[in-house]
Amino acid sequence: MTHGQTVPVIIDCDTGVDDALALLFAVRHPGLDLRAVTCVAGNTDVAGVVRNTLTVLEQAGAPDIPVAGGGGRGPRPAGPPPPPPPHVHGHDGMGDLGLPAPRRTPADVDAVTLLRREILASPRPVTLVPTAPLTNIALLLRTHPEVTRNIERIVFMGGAAGAGNATAVAEFNVWHDPEAAAILLTAGVPITMYGLDVFTRVVVPGADVRRLRASTEPGTRLAGELLAHRPATPGSRPDDPAEDAGGLGDAGALCAVADPEGLTTHRLPVEVSLAPGPTRGQTVVDRRPRVGESEIHGDAREQPLVDVGLDVDVERYVRLYLGTVERTKA
Ligand code: BDR
Ligand code: CA
Repeated sequence: MTHGQTVPVIIDCDTGVDDALALLFAVRHPGLDLRAVTCVAGNTDVAGVVRNTLTVLEQAGAPDIPVAGGGGRGPRPAGPPPPPPPHVHGHDGMGDLGLPAPRRTPADVDAVTLLRREILASPRPVTLVPTAPLTNIALLLRTHPEVTRNIERIVFMGGAAGAGNATAVAEFNVWHDPEAAAILLTAGVPITMYGLDVFTRVVVPGADVRRLRASTEPGTRLAGELLAHRPATPGSRPDDPAEDAGGLGDAGALCAVADPEGLTTHRLPVEVSLAPGPTRGQTVVDRRPRVGESEIHGDAREQPLVDVGLDVDVERYVRLYLGTVERTKA
């Protein structure tokens, strides 16, 4: 944030328990101006993502922010797309919390059209925050490359410098549409990668989650319910005090927009592995201090430089998140 001005933000998500946490934060943070939300299949199908997104905005008491649905899963080399993971996000994609159907309705344009419209209409360059498979963003960049002139930065949740989650080396959002992720990385705008290396670390303690759940304010209570659905420590016992603790997940990427100082990044070459086989969808982050044999023998390829999040101030982001969702925007 600069000079007290709010940061215009657009989120592209697959709501999604942790996408919902991200939306709640963006709506309530006084320094963020959430101008649109676009939806893509991922944690559930795109109709479910749109419904969940509208529900969250309504529960949060957000102003009338346009929401539009977009792409399905990108082309995959082997067969139909994988089913959504109900063990992570529930059967409705948002934790099966039994929330009422939203009264709000989506915009009558598709996601790519809405993205283009809102990016170009913004009085100041937009920070784009994808927290989902990157299909919509790649389509936008390929179809309407002129949008990059009004994009300040893309801060995306995806990828990993270390271990993956969808596969041993690939993170879910990149693995769902690796070609789209490769297009994003070469967009020619500054990019921050909020990958699994930091994503899994920001966990809200159980006592705080219990306080949020007891709130009478619907948005705050929803944050508590969502966090309680996020396993902080897989395999922990029911009587474990850490049991109610919940990871911020995608919401951490929004914390990195509101408070970039809390994230330690290194500007590094990153390439997405597109070949079929065990590395497909891996974000190959080159952390070597100097060139190696491959470059010495003339194999050097031009690779995009990305600000890769490698460390995070956990306490700072937990405090920021709680302080934001427990207030209502003035
Ligand atoms: C990503 O996968 C999804 O399940 C989460 O919403 C997050 O965006 C983490 O790999
Ligand atoms: Ca997500």
